[in-house]
Amino acid sequence: MTKKVFIKSYGCQMNVYDGQRMADVLAGDGYAETSRQDEADLVILNTCHIREKAVDKVYSELGRVREIKTARAGQGLETRIVVAGCVAQAEGAEIQRRQHAVDLVVGPQSYHRLPDLLARSRNRRLVDTEFPVEDKFGALPEPDRARTLARGVTAFLTVQEGCDKFCAFCVVPYTRGAELSRPVERIMAEARKLAEAGVRELTLIGQNVNAYHGEGPDGRTWPLWKLLERVAGIPGIVRLRYTTSHPNDMDDDLIAAHRDQPSLMPYLHLPVQSGSDAILAAMNRKHTGADYRRIIGKVRAVRPDIALSSDFIVGFPGETDADFADTMRLIDDMRFASAYSFKYSIRPGTPAADARDQVSEAVKSERLAALQARLEEHRQAFNAAMVGRSTEILLERKGREAGQLTGKTPYLQTVQIDGSGFEPGEIVGVKILSQSTNSLFGRADSVKADGRRADSGVTTDRA
Ligand code: SAH
Ligand code: SF4
Ligand code: F3S
Repeated sequence: MTKKVFIKSYGCQMNVYDGQRMADVLAGDGYAETSRQDEADLVILNTCHIREKAVDKVYSELGRVREIKTARAGQGLETRIVVAGCVAQAEGAEIQRRQHAVDLVVGPQSYHRLPDLLARSRNRRLVDTEFPVEDKFGALPEPDRARTLARGVTAFLTVQEGCDKFCAFCVVPYTRGAELSRPVERIMAEARKLAEAGVRELTLIGQNVNAYHGEGPDGRTWPLWKLLERVAGIPGIVRLRYTTSHPNDMDDDLIAAHRDQPSLMPYLHLPVQSGSDAILAAMNRKHTGADYRRIIGKVRAVRPDIALSSDFIVGFPGETDADFADTMRLIDDMRFASAYSFKYSIRPGTPAADARDQVSEAVKSERLAALQARLEEHRQAFNAAMVGRSTEILLERKGREAGQLTGKTPYLQTVQIDGSGFEPGEIVGVKILSQSTNSLFGRADSVKADGRRADSGVTTDRA
């Protein structure tokens, strides 16, 4: 009988990707993936350590998983529990002290060793949070066709991992380790496999993806724009995106790719965190608000319609009302199409955790509410501007209501259309008719003559 594995990923896209690769490696060990925790012989929580709340979630989820384990044991069924991801890396053996039911704790750099670790943890609980010398990506199996198809027509592909930037608030350099870029040819091989299985849109991901500097086929170090150009040539791949970027690595060549590379979508997630120079300096971001504005100015000069997105932290230690007002001003000037915003969360072991001028919870809440209200206004305005316009969407899956299909615009907005005659994977020309809080509604006005043709490019709408 095949064994079943349930994998739950928290946090960023890197974890989504890693969760899929764990499923791939475990398939070789006889495990089929299930979306039902109660029928799983193996439960993997792929965790996030970025904010305190994310960590709390893991421990409360572990309590629930233990109950299922106990209930299944009553029926004579074994359930093994694995904690993977960034909490595993950061807390190691502490996890098993707090929750005895955990069989294995495995850090993000050791997933290729999962079958072996599972075998070895049969008799005693294990922790593996080494940063092994071998590259896990090289040792992980490539995704197979059936599993890729089941995951849909868009895919993440990790090209870079880890971070050397050490922002004062952030755990990532500790949980993911030093920056590492995968070689171009390895990425190409994986991208081709994904494309052959029907993937049409690839998002190249990394904690600092625009710092990518992988070994090229010519033996030289390749930057991200060159990698994007190469991946764009893969038959079947019609849309490209990349995330997450750091302002300091947003160089002119990459910006030019937004003008020159037709399959690179007009969307840029570029976290700024704060609009105050004093706070940016205290955060060790190594850029100012003016630097950020300059970069966005250059991007908009080559791609005026680009949808901008960002991350914000409110209530970083020392943040005054005036600092916060600078952030609000930056938001008003930039007009982001979407954004993520958070209250500063103290992370043990990071420099800012020791700061004495911590901001009170009440002030953080107040600022976050004000910030999010303004960001939401801008997001709604960006979406409203699409109503009445024509654009193209990549159909991804069935929509909310029977007969509907859901797709994404080049700007990453969700659009629902009447899906008759269409199927996921097609690029469809649509006219946007109306807007609700989280969706646009459109009418298909043309199918791209040859939506599935290998070499079809997307001409994005710059109207
Ligand atoms: N590598 C990316 C994002 C890393 S984490 C970057 O450089 O921007 C994603 C987001 O979580 C960050 O952009 C930041 O806004 C937020 N974040 C990270 N640490 C945090 C903390 N201690 N408290 C609150 N938000 C945090
Ligand atoms: Fe964290 Fe800063 Fe690195 Fe982003 S750049 S992962 S925020 S340390
Ligand atoms: Fe969280 Fe780790 Fe990603 S801390 S945001 S899962 S890199």
